Amino acid sequence: LKVLSVASEAVPLVKTGGLADVAGALPAALAPHGVEMTTLLPGYPAVMQVLKRARAVHVWDSLLGTPARLLAGKLDGTHPLLVLDAPALFAREGSPYTAPDGRDWADNWHRFAALGRAAADLAGGIMVKGGKPQRFDLLHAHDWQAAMAAAYLRFAPYGGEGPVPSVMTIHNMAFQGWFGAEVFAQLGLPSRAWTMDGVEYHGGLGMLKAGLACADAVTTVSPTYAREIRSAAFGMGLEGLIAARGHAVSGILNGIDTALWNPAQDEALAAPYTHRTLEKRVANKRALEAEFGLDEAEGPLFVAVSRLTWQKGVDVLPEVLDHLAGIGARLALLGSGDAGIEQELLKGAARHPGRIGVRIGYDEGLSHRMMGGGDAILIPSRFEPCGLTQLYGLAYGCLPVVVRTGGLADTVIDANPAALAVGCATGVQFDGVNYDSLAAVLTRTVDLFHQGEVWQRIQKNGMKSDFSWARSGKAYADLYRSLLA
Ligand code: ADP
Ligand code: GLC
Repeated sequence: LKVLSVASEAVPLVKTGGLADVAGALPAALAPHGVEMTTLLPGYPAVMQVLKRARAVHVWDSLLGTPARLLAGKLDGTHPLLVLDAPALFAREGSPYTAPDGRDWADNWHRFAALGRAAADLAGGIMVKGGKPQRFDLLHAHDWQAAMAAAYLRFAPYGGEGPVPSVMTIHNMAFQGWFGAEVFAQLGLPSRAWTMDGVEYHGGLGMLKAGLACADAVTTVSPTYAREIRSAAFGMGLEGLIAARGHAVSGILNGIDTALWNPAQDEALAAPYTHRTLEKRVANKRALEAEFGLDEAEGPLFVAVSRLTWQKGVDVLPEVLDHLAGIGARLALLGSGDAGIEQELLKGAARHPGRIGVRIGYDEGLSHRMMGGGDAILIPSRFEPCGLTQLYGLAYGCLPVVVRTGGLADTVIDANPAALAVGCATGVQFDGVNYDSLAAVLTRTVDLFHQGEVWQRIQKNGMKSDFSWARSGKAYADLYRSLLA
C-alpha cells in the first residue's frame, strides 16, 4: 500500500511543533503494517540543504503560476521523501509560516495551495520523469497547510480510475488557513468548488474547512479531542461540519518516536536510566538545577516545555509562581511565543531567584534534559488535540500534571484514590485553567511527591506504559485499508 503523506513540517528537517514529530514518525510507524509512506514537504532552505544532490523527478512549468520541480530524497536516510522545490514560494529563511516581523507571509494561501495542488497531481498519477509514473493508493493530508490536496482531488479529477481516497488529519483546529475570496480565481478550481460543501467558508477560502469537507475520512490526534470538536467550545466554528461528517471523523492517538525519546539511551542526559535505575535521575536533576541556576532543595522540581500561547494556558502560570515557590517547589520553564507571556514569566523568575528559572527560546537538547531531570511536567493547556510532552514525561519518569482535556485526558491516568489503590496511576489530572485549580493541583502534587514510594510507583507505571506507535500505526493502516476496500 503506497500512501503519500503531505505536511508542512517533519522531523528531522523542519519543526515548529508536534506536527513535525508526528509527520516525521509516521513512515516508520506504518511500515510494519505493509504501508510504504512517502512524505511530501515544501522546499524551505533547511529542507533543500539536505537535498543538494537530489534528482528532479518532475517539473511543472507553472504550478499555480510559478515554476516548480519535484525532488526525490530520503527522510532520515530511510523513508521516501519528495520535496516541492518552488523558490518563489519557499526559498525563505526562518519560520515556515511567518516573515521576520512575525506576521504570516501574505502569500501563504499561494504557498500551501501549491503544496496541495502538487500533492493531488502526484496522487493523481502524474508522470515521473525517466521512469514509471509514481502511483499512490491514498493521500494523507495534515492540517490546513496540506488540506487543499483533498479539495484538488475532489474537484479537479485526474483521468483514469478517478481520484484516490484521502484522509485529513487535524492536529490543531485553531489554525484554519482562512483567506479572502479574491484568491479563489487563482486556485485553478472549477466554480462548483466555491460552495458550502467545497472550499468556501464564511465568504472566504477556508483551507482546513475544504479538507474536512472533501476528504474521505477525517481524523484527529486523540479520541477525546475528536469528541470535543463537535462542540462550539472546541470546534472553533467548524463544529457543525465535524458533526455532519459523523462517523467519518475519528481519533487516533499520537505515539512518540522511542528511538529519539528513550531515557536509557539519550545522549542529551548526564545519566541515562531505566525504570529499574530511577536513582540515577538525581544526577540529571542536579545538572538541570545548575543549568537553570536553581537551588538544590527538598521539594519537587517542576518543568514546562511549551509554545507560550493562550492554547497552552501558560498565561496563568505567572500568577501562580508565588504559590509554587511558597509550597517548596521549584520550576524550570523552556518556551517561546507570545511576548507578553514571556515578559510576565521572566518577571516571576526575577521575583524568585533560585526557585523559578525561565529560559526563552527553542532548544531540543535542553527539552530532553528537562524530561530526564524534572520531577513533574506541568501542562495547563486550555485545549490539547493530543500533546506530546506529557508522553515524553511518561517515558522519562517526569510525572505529567495535566488538564483533563483532549489527548491529555486520554494518555494520563490520574492518581485518584481508586487508581492509587489498584496501582495504575501515571500522573495527575485537574480541571479548569485558572489560579485556584492550578494552585490546588500544585499542592496536591507536592504532597504526592513527599510520599516517596507512591511517587516512584507512579513514575514506574508511566515509564512502563505503551506510548509507542505500535497501536496507532495499525489504526492508521486499518483506516487506509477500509477506505480502499
Ligand atoms: P504543539 O504541537 O501544540 O506545540 P505538542 O506537545 O504536540 O504541542 O508538541 C510540541 C513539541 O515541540 C514537542 O516535541 C516539544 O518538546 C517541542 N517544544 C515546544 N517548545 C519547545 C522549546 N521551547 N524547545 C524545545 N522543544 C520545544
Ligand atoms: C498540534 C497540537 C498538539 C498535537 C500536535 C501533533 O500542534 O497542538 O496537541 O500533539 O499537533 O499532533
